Amino acid sequence: SIAAVISGLGASLPERVVSNEDLAASLDTSDAWIRSRTGIVRRRMVEPGTSTGDLAVAAGRAALSSAGSSADFVLLATTPDQPCPATAPQVAHRLGLEGVPVLDVSAVCSGFGYALALARALVASGACSRPLVIGAETYTSIVNQLDRDTAVIFGDGAGAVLLHEGDSTEPGAIHALDLGSDGAGSGLIEIAAGGSRCPRTGGALSCEQRYFRMRGREVYGQAVRRMATSVRTVLARAGWSNQSIRAFIGHQANQRILDAVSDRLGVETNYRFGNIAEVGNTAAASIPLAMADTTARRLVRPGARTILMAFGGGLTWGSVALSW
Ligand code: ACO
Repeated sequence: SIAAVISGLGASLPERVVSNEDLAASLDTSDAWIRSRTGIVRRRMVEPGTSTGDLAVAAGRAALSSAGSSADFVLLATTPDQPCPATAPQVAHRLGLEGVPVLDVSAVCSGFGYALALARALVASGACSRPLVIGAETYTSIVNQLDRDTAVIFGDGAGAVLLHEGDSTEPGAIHALDLGSDGAGSGLIEIAAGGSRCPRTGGALSCEQRYFRMRGREVYGQAVRRMATSVRTVLARAGWSNQSIRAFIGHQANQRILDAVSDRLGVETNYRFGNIAEVGNTAAASIPLAMADTTARRLVRPGARTILMAFGGGLTWGSVALSW
């Protein structure tokens, strides 16, 4: 039967590497705390002047060239270059995709899962046949670099996949999805200012309002519970057992969260993939960046039963089952 199939993959990371020690030089934190609490060792940071859109273009170009194909829709999961307009139109223009329909997807760290789900639905409906799905973020520009609660966690980067309309037996075919949200937790992960509730034009804004903030401890338990439930749902929809998973890639929020979810689900250690140690939490970019890293290290056999799982602000979550 007809399926949306992943046929191209690309990534873009800024060159500048910021280690835990670099951060500890100016923040009340330590390499030992960051490693043991999050699994992060270093992250990438853009130079001033580089935008989220720049990273998105680089990752999108890499995905298109790896597939040797063009795209007829662009979905960009991101915290955008500016509140208005969307970032996707410029990204499509710079990729030479003139006139194609485009959309920014706003689901914080779950954005890539949501965008992939939308891309699959667009292919199934006949609205397009080769959607490009990009996750791109520059959290170092929205996080307060003096706030150790967030500054140690986030990094910059972008990843992208190109899909095509293919057959469900092909490697790369998406088999099942699970998406969800719980807006009761919307204040747990937020940038308070910049919209109608707290307008940029409304006078002096406090740091609390201007910067990205996360109530990490409160999010932690929810993340483990929601991710595990979502993966169980997507496995049931795909008709796969936990034991048949051969690649398990979660949003790289925190190694402890990923380990807890994998343990709950009984996923073997050698089938758990990710690169949080090297890039930190890159929000909507984290899953495609982890996929690119896993591919570069040739860790997955073609057709391997793969689960992608995301959780983030909103609150939102989403899981994807594909035979990668
Ligand atoms: N360096 C040193 N000490 C620190 C730091 C730091 N950077 N940050 C906090 N601490 C201290 C705290 O003050 C606290 O001290 P206390 O015990 O004296 O009060 C102690 O370390 C423990 O703090 P916690 O917040 O309880 O630490 P925790 O183990 O929960 O780790 C973290 C914090 C990493 C944020 C974790 O809670 C987490 O990963 N939460 C979930 C994040 C998540 O999944 N988010 C959703 C996806 S991301 C998105 O949507 C954008």
